[in-house]
Amino acid sequence: SAGRPLKVMISGAPASGKGTQCELIVKKYGLVHISTGDLLRAEVSAVSEIGKKAREYMENGLLVPDEIVTEMVVSRLSREDVKEKGWLLDGYPRSPAQAESLERLRVRPDIYIVLEVPDEILIDRCVGRRMDPVTGKIYHVKNFPPETEEIKARLITRADDTQEKVKSRLETYKRNTESIVSTYLDVLNKIDGNYGREIVFREIDTLLQQIQPDSGEDSTQG
Ligand code: AP5
Repeated sequence: SAGRPLKVMISGAPASGKGTQCELIVKKYGLVHISTGDLLRAEVSAVSEIGKKAREYMENGLLVPDEIVTEMVVSRLSREDVKEKGWLLDGYPRSPAQAESLERLRVRPDIYIVLEVPDEILIDRCVGRRMDPVTGKIYHVKNFPPETEEIKARLITRADDTQEKVKSRLETYKRNTESIVSTYLDVLNKIDGNYGREIVFREIDTLLQQIQPDSGEDSTQG
């Protein structure tokens, strides 16, 4: 593909739709999706050393210690596919120390997207979320029900998606967000995430087209 590979960060409260939008971004732009939540859940399933350390924090809706997560992200960012295709960082940085680590390594995004969704809606989205362990696809019991009975039967609920844990994850997000955002003010773009999936994606797509106009097929302006 023409031009420099895109570097995108996507942020937002728990259940603001980061994973859902990343799926659509990857489909169109081919970026390497690096989701710390997904990477950590894979480590937990594999019962690896990292997984053993991370499990309790995650199940309780707490942040996993910075060193563990930062090492995981830095090692993923250093792989060859990332240089070729660009990256889409989802769920990282999530603390001031994590943002500082990236700054020290001179890892900066072309754009920092924040999905904004009201608290009441976030709680409903979390409590209704289901995941397909086979494809990794994210569903919602009301908003995005599974396509077939077979998929429906194998869906799982995340241990940290109870009302109580969502509240504490949300508090952590609110406590940290301002200082992280201040690191990326020059490339900050807030998006109203309280619309349907396709409408939210259209907004993101427009922003990405502006910074990389030759990568999409439906670009109408330079
Ligand atoms: P992580 O997996 O990153 O969780 P999160 O930030 O809480 O985000 P979610 O995955 O809950 O939500 P999302 O924004 O991706 O929303 P989704 O698209 O699924 O992290 C999990 C844990 O890992 C953390 O708590 C922590 O312990 C650890 N961790 C991760 N990163 C870390 C870090 N950097 N440092 C330390 N610890 C870290 O959508 C949610 C639901 O809404 C779905 O059901 C979906 O179908 C539905 N939905 C989505 N979009 C829409 C829409 N537009 N309209 C209606 N419904 C929608």
